[in-house]
Amino acid sequence: MDDYEFQGKKVLVRIDINTPINPKNGELMDYRRFKSHEETLRELIDSGARTVALAHQGRPGDMDFTTLEKHASRLSEVLGCEVKYVDSIFSSYVHKEVENMKDGELILLENCRFYSEEVINRPSDVQAKTFIVQKLKDIFDVYINDAFATAHRSQPTVVGYPVVMKSLAGRLMQKEIETIEGILKKPRKPITFVLGGTKADDSLKIAQKALSNGTEHILTGGLVANIMLAARGYRIGEPSIEFIRGKKMIDQIDIGKELLEKYPDNIILPVDLALEHYGERMEIPVSDLPKNYKISDIGHKTVEKYQQILMESGTIFANGALGIFEDPKFKYGTEEILKSIAKSKAFSVIGGGHTVAASNKLELHGDITHISSGGSACVNLLAGYKLPAVEELKQSRKKFG
Ligand code: 3PG
Repeated sequence: MDDYEFQGKKVLVRIDINTPINPKNGELMDYRRFKSHEETLRELIDSGARTVALAHQGRPGDMDFTTLEKHASRLSEVLGCEVKYVDSIFSSYVHKEVENMKDGELILLENCRFYSEEVINRPSDVQAKTFIVQKLKDIFDVYINDAFATAHRSQPTVVGYPVVMKSLAGRLMQKEIETIEGILKKPRKPITFVLGGTKADDSLKIAQKALSNGTEHILTGGLVANIMLAARGYRIGEPSIEFIRGKKMIDQIDIGKELLEKYPDNIILPVDLALEHYGERMEIPVSDLPKNYKISDIGHKTVEKYQQILMESGTIFANGALGIFEDPKFKYGTEEILKSIAKSKAFSVIGGGHTVAASNKLELHGDITHISSGGSACVNLLAGYKLPAVEELKQSRKKFG
């Protein structure tokens, strides 16, 4: 952003303020992603740009798939200035609003995943032809991508614009890439990934890459652990299988089997799990899981086993909660593992909305080497993948200067 004169320019900026939402009251549970874009947005506002931000929240069909109205107020609190919420993405109404903007103003458009093609991952030249790119590209002077947390997706708003217009990396994007690439230059061995959360398809791809690049341990929790346990032949119970089916991830069990065959000693599975029994937490060894209870956390013996590995690790990368940590009965696994990461002498990077929200609550920030604004994006990069959004920004630089 350094060599661009923003005064009076119309700037389209992609940010990532996708935030965990409290299922009970619909409130946003964390400020961190909003704060992470403060530097980029402040710089644009202060330099007199007319800034329009594009962002997503959740995925179609999920409980946290919602409008960005509350996000606009939260962004406005963080920046200390008005953020106008425009409940549309590329209609003529948006065009009019942009036309009427004054220097230094900021608009947040509607959840870009309300537009159906936004959730399809395809090559950038195809994404450049989508309506969301074609209908907005001509009204802006420059596109900025500051959404590091979405940089692993090849979706229109992250890879489409750089194909057709001048594009720059935002301050957050720059910092994340520099920090993570710095850590990757000399990782201390042994390397341990802690993979939890519900994006198990992403996590298995990451495990695959990380293991093929010599990672020693993958500790599993959340949906990733359930899938791997099923892959190893454990009966994880109907509610947990239903949950996997609901997420359209049944096919991941076969992928898990292949991984376990190839890396039997490196992928570490829970030895006990916590379930809800008449409103109470009940822990059961993985070999005795009952049929009708949903797995909700890793158990005490698993935590002990994982802690030993973490204490001996030279580098730790963690993404995703190990259980349903929003429920006080099932926060144990996530919290204990985060505390161990903070206590260890290893280089540590944590990412992911839920993981970061939990570490915020425990005030562990000072003891973790890097807290990333990205979840899967961060661990994808750490595992050795190139991020499509970053690659497109490089290409755009060559094409448009
Ligand atoms: C994230 O929270 O990891 C990013 O916002 C990307 O979201 P997605 O996994 O739904 O693409």
